[in-house]
Amino acid sequence: MVAWNDNITPVFAFGLTTGIALTAATQYLLTALVGNNRKQIVEVPVPSEPLNGHSLVRKESGILTQHTRSLLRLEKEFTVSGQRLQTLVRHMVQEMKKGLAADGHQLKMIPSFVVRRPTGNETGSVLALDLGGSNFRVCEVYLEGQGRLRMRHRKYVVGDDLKRASGRVLFDFFAEKIEGFLDEIGADKAIERNLGFTFSFPVGQPALAQGHLLHWNKGFQCEGVVNRDVVQLLAEALNRRNLKIKVTALVNDTVGTLISHAYTDPQTHIGVILGTGTNAAYFERIEEIGKWTGPNETGEMVINTEWGAYCEPSVLPITPYDLALDRASTAPKMQIFEKMISGMYLGEIVRYVLLDLISTGELFKGRGSKKLDTPYNFETANMSRIERDHSLELSDTKAVLEDILGIPTTSIGDRRVVKTVCELVGTRAARLSAAGIAAIVTKMNRLDACTVALDGSVFEHYPHFANRMRDALREMLGITAENIILELGRDGSGQGAALIAAIHH
Ligand code: GLC
Repeated sequence: MVAWNDNITPVFAFGLTTGIALTAATQYLLTALVGNNRKQIVEVPVPSEPLNGHSLVRKESGILTQHTRSLLRLEKEFTVSGQRLQTLVRHMVQEMKKGLAADGHQLKMIPSFVVRRPTGNETGSVLALDLGGSNFRVCEVYLEGQGRLRMRHRKYVVGDDLKRASGRVLFDFFAEKIEGFLDEIGADKAIERNLGFTFSFPVGQPALAQGHLLHWNKGFQCEGVVNRDVVQLLAEALNRRNLKIKVTALVNDTVGTLISHAYTDPQTHIGVILGTGTNAAYFERIEEIGKWTGPNETGEMVINTEWGAYCEPSVLPITPYDLALDRASTAPKMQIFEKMISGMYLGEIVRYVLLDLISTGELFKGRGSKKLDTPYNFETANMSRIERDHSLELSDTKAVLEDILGIPTTSIGDRRVVKTVCELVGTRAARLSAAGIAAIVTKMNRLDACTVALDGSVFEHYPHFANRMRDALREMLGITAENIILELGRDGSGQGAALIAAIHH
């Protein structure tokens, strides 16, 4: 669960009349962009959304029931047409170019200092600390050569208290767990070791082993970390425990996922995370990185796009529900793309839609529950369960709604509506992530062959997500989409950090 401010905006305070609210959406985000970044917004014409006859909503014998009418409205709001995807791709490519040329744009396009691909022949043992969103891991990675590696690791849940603790408490906790891990594996603590630090937040990186946090996201609010060098904070915490560990690389999880997959498959050019948060990294030619003033050793460098921050209101299909979620979030007006795609938020979007339908009496005879009223109580894992439920009576959906969420009673009609809402929100997320990938592939001009390494709970566990992404890629890229291979790169973020620490040391 995420920490919430006391002054959460009531969900429907601004009214959900679609037309008005969508205009409000654009206004709201325009203010956000112009207000914060003082930039001119590019107006991109957005086509209306033809449903191409693929409607998810059943019309019962030509008579539109109240349910059906609402679902048709929701379908219109959440559907991202092939045409809009194309517009999105074109606009994202423009934004990528701007971010590569200079700082201060929507896409940060952060140079990672990772300039070498693994050969597969690296050997040795390296430690890794991997802070994602909902958990962190301490790993020991053995590089065996010939593209083989082994890993031992311990996983710890990052609770709400830790997400709100001071930076010192957070980093001391890491150091304590690293020491505990070394004791557990019987390591000789007198030997100095290298460590790759996967830190999955936006950092400004002046060197491979240096980086100051630009801002927290994914519900983290630890004080005393923003604008500080996180490598130094970790080194100080390790020192307080007299641990002989040198942090030799600071790595984003997307960069780690990319490099670890490239260790076994050299065709891997992109790494993507679709988990609690979302982001992508890829190999870019140095001459394309206008803002880079450092050396050009290898002709290329991995760029961390931080695509979660993409927020073009004239292109993204932002609904009133997205706006309500954003306003109540710990970081309003930030990470808009991420808030439409990643696991931390998908269930919350569905919760807002359900509350709307309950408030008009269209769902559950107008009766909700305390649990459903509580922010972030409808987890994305519940959506997965509901989307996986193909039983005649939607009995698993019934269990989620009645047993987990405490809705007094649900009809089969209610359950169908909830399932359709999950499908709409889940499909939109998959299609938007596919647009991000299509933009990167287009920017790289790699339409001939490109493996994308993906990791994260949404990609791995959300039903149909990968197939929906593939469908969208086909709509955007036609037959060439066959050249884009989406592959699960499980646990790559930690392994990649260890590899980078080994390759670049
Ligand atoms: C957030 C972070 C980003 C990270 C992503 C996935 O978007 O800003 O750095 O890669 O989550 O964990």
